[in-house]
Amino acid sequence: MAPDVETTPPPAAVPSATVTGLLAEIAKTGADSQRGGYTRPVFSTAEMDLRSWFVDQATKRGLAVEHDPNGGIWAWWDVPWGDRSNSLVTGSHLDSVPGGGAFDGPLGVASALVAVDILKSRLQAPSRPLAIVVFAEEEGSRFGVACLGSRLTTGAIDPDKARSLKDPEGATFAEVARASGVEPRFIGRDEERLSQIGAFVELHVEQGRGLIDLDRPLAIASSIIGHGRWRFSLHGQGNHAGTTLMSDRRDPMVAAARIVVAIRDTARKQPHARATVGRLQPVPGGTNVIASRVDFWLDVRHPDDAVTASIVESIHEAARLIAADEGCAVEMSEESLSQTVHFDTGLQQALERALPQAPVLDTGAGHDAGVLSPYVPTAMVFVRNPSGVSHSPEEHVLDEDAETGARALADALQSMMG
Ligand code: GLV
Ligand code: MN
Ligand code: MN
Repeated sequence: MAPDVETTPPPAAVPSATVTGLLAEIAKTGADSQRGGYTRPVFSTAEMDLRSWFVDQATKRGLAVEHDPNGGIWAWWDVPWGDRSNSLVTGSHLDSVPGGGAFDGPLGVASALVAVDILKSRLQAPSRPLAIVVFAEEEGSRFGVACLGSRLTTGAIDPDKARSLKDPEGATFAEVARASGVEPRFIGRDEERLSQIGAFVELHVEQGRGLIDLDRPLAIASSIIGHGRWRFSLHGQGNHAGTTLMSDRRDPMVAAARIVVAIRDTARKQPHARATVGRLQPVPGGTNVIASRVDFWLDVRHPDDAVTASIVESIHEAARLIAADEGCAVEMSEESLSQTVHFDTGLQQALERALPQAPVLDTGAGHDAGVLSPYVPTAMVFVRNPSGVSHSPEEHVLDEDAETGARALADALQSMMG
């Protein structure tokens, strides 16, 4: 019988992109000549350019692009009957930390595009809808709250709190979002999109040494250890660096320095704990000025959420004592807190069947997949980072591992099509 050309069209022609080739297209976007690496804060020119690049790539592939109310972008390969329930969703983020690497976020997005190419070359149509998502402000490097887009989507953050978050220039999330085409009145839990997700699989560069040590290119995630961020403000007496005797000073910078050391010492006493102060701002910030205030941000992580809470309480107590000893006052406020996440067992087992060589690892890095995890079945695939370094220009992925990752993502997604 002659083939029915109406119902069995040839597979759509797709560009033969590689992950490395796609990342090369954005290699100049947001390159930071001062810090090295990339600085791509959410809604900056660089991140907006990356969003346009993604929309262009999705459109070239015939995917239907949608912008969600929380700054996310979705690119759909729909089933022929148009229903979007029980969708397979993959993707990551395009924003970066200041001076970050090329792969944290963009690797997951580029791999998702290549995985769709691979699947389009194998299948005439998906048997489950497949979407690539790009979440906004995963790093929280502009507005302070990590995974802000996915937190808003799930309702894990109050939209009023999100609207009033400020960037380092004092602009609110509401103002910046509106100027970037996201209407701040409509941010918040997105019931419709959440209900469409049957499974979310995020591919990400590994941010530690697990795969180097195991000499494997890919891993499947078991869990993300709990983590949070706290802001400290130390108030002292601003004064003249030349005329103020050492005995007369109430210097919040000295208090901050002592607290940073106390933080390191507190974390060292707890196996598996990590505590970091990576950002500190003296006000007004002059070489010959004793600061009147110092703000700094604390990041604490531990697999046991109760231990995280006790570490933060010990640090707070130490900060109060040190501040008083230096004649200063201290305030501490929580900016975000994510509990330890164990990924969906069924989805993890499906990935283990699809990628039988891949070891199972946990991670100390946060991800949108972790935020989504209490709401939808979620899993992650990690790609080896031969430097073992991340949130730094030295973050790296070998070309062959990147392509292996995209093929593995395609295999895993195909295996879930049933
Ligand atoms: C994000 O990468 C984080 O773990 O802070
Ligand atoms: Mn990151
Ligand atoms: Mn990331």
